[in-house]
Amino acid sequence: MPFVGRERELRHLADALARPPIVVLIEGEAGVGKTRLLHELAGQPLLVGGCHPMRFPYGPLVEALRQSHPPARLNPVTGALRPLLPEFAHRLPPAPPALGNAQVERHRLFRAVLSLLDALSPVTLVVEDVHWIDQETRELLAFLVRCLPGTVNLVLTYRAEDLRHPASELLAHLPPHIGHTELTLSPLDAEATALLAKHLLPGSADLWPLTGGVPLAVEELARMLADGREPSTPPALRDAVRVKLDALRPTARRIVQAAAMLEEPAPTLTLAAAAGLPPEQGERGLAEAVRRGLLREWTPGAYGLRQPLTRQAVRESITPNLRRRISRRIEAPAEPQGALSPREKQVIGLAADGMTNKAIAESLFLSPRTVEVHVANGLRKLGLTSRRQLSSRNT
Ligand SMILES: Nc1ncnc2c1ncn2[C@@H]1O[C@H](COP(=O)(O)OP(=O)(O)O)[C@@H](O)[C@H]1O
Ligand SMILES: [Mg+2]
Repeated sequence: MPFVGRERELRHLADALARPPIVVLIEGEAGVGKTRLLHELAGQPLLVGGCHPMRFPYGPLVEALRQSHPPARLNPVTGALRPLLPEFAHRLPPAPPALGNAQVERHRLFRAVLSLLDALSPVTLVVEDVHWIDQETRELLAFLVRCLPGTVNLVLTYRAEDLRHPASELLAHLPPHIGHTELTLSPLDAEATALLAKHLLPGSADLWPLTGGVPLAVEELARMLADGREPSTPPALRDAVRVKLDALRPTARRIVQAAAMLEEPAPTLTLAAAAGLPPEQGERGLAEAVRRGLLREWTPGAYGLRQPLTRQAVRESITPNLRRRISRRIEAPAEPQGALSPREKQVIGLAADGMTNKAIAESLFLSPRTVEVHVANGLRKLGLTSRRQLSSRNT
């Protein structure tokens, strides 16, 4: 599959790795292309180990080191790695004698890793999906970053919304000679998405509105369309969304479910009302849902699911009973929330005539963002949740 977009990010990463020793943090949501970006680093000596939801102690390290080809005559301390890497033992010196003290042995193991990396250098150790890191590897990394050898780099990838400890804590104690940089991967823009879609599908389907430019979603959706299936929620995305929903506290989950049932991004009070929560609880739930990456602020004060496909996945996960309850709350006439300002009246009037935000923005010489805010506020004040409801009113 061709690689699209990301020229800037790839250059940034390659430039950083050319200045060892450096610690690079790569952040981005699931399927956005963190692993792929690393694959595109042609010719770089990488040792890659992934963290796993099971959080196996030293799991990523074992995975990374056992692919390596160390030179002969390693420092005897590296023999301490033998019990962890039996399949690799023939490449290591004899195991040093037991020390009878777990802490002392741990220090020796950490030194063994450091020494092996040094012997393998120049090399970049990549630990992927650090949101699933185990405690042991976490402590090992904290040790490594303080004494990275001269031509060894460390790259960590992660999803911010699933992280328990901020990855930046690793950067807090870096000695001055060790560099660091952070890279955030956002979804592809409409143009790069179209390019990817063109490679995946005959014709020119616009997959951006449904996928929000997340390459994994683009691929899955393209596969469905290519097979002649109706575009629906790809199974991998559906499962990922359910796992995330289950991990939320009940109030946050209710806010996400309410957001999925509303037609458009909505302000906190509308979400709380649709979720059947008092405003304060609604606010707390909303904050958690945003922190965990399920909702985002689309326009100032208006929140909705991050992607249409995610919204669909949440909707599909709601039981019919709950769906009815939320719909009833959405349709119930809202308390009057205040009068429309003259500008809101003007914008709402045009929206009721069926004009798009873009057309309204052009005709009133406003920015599309401002129009969006006026529409959202106007709808809220009218107790409506969708602009479609406007046309059936006699405004
Ligand atoms: N820039 C890109 N161009 C083309 N395909 C991409 C791009 N980024 C990611 N992909 C594809 O999308 C899928 C998900 O990417 P991946 O790197 O596994 O995501 P992540 O590691 O962030 O979860 C993979 O099949 C990958 O090849
Ligand atoms: Mg990955």
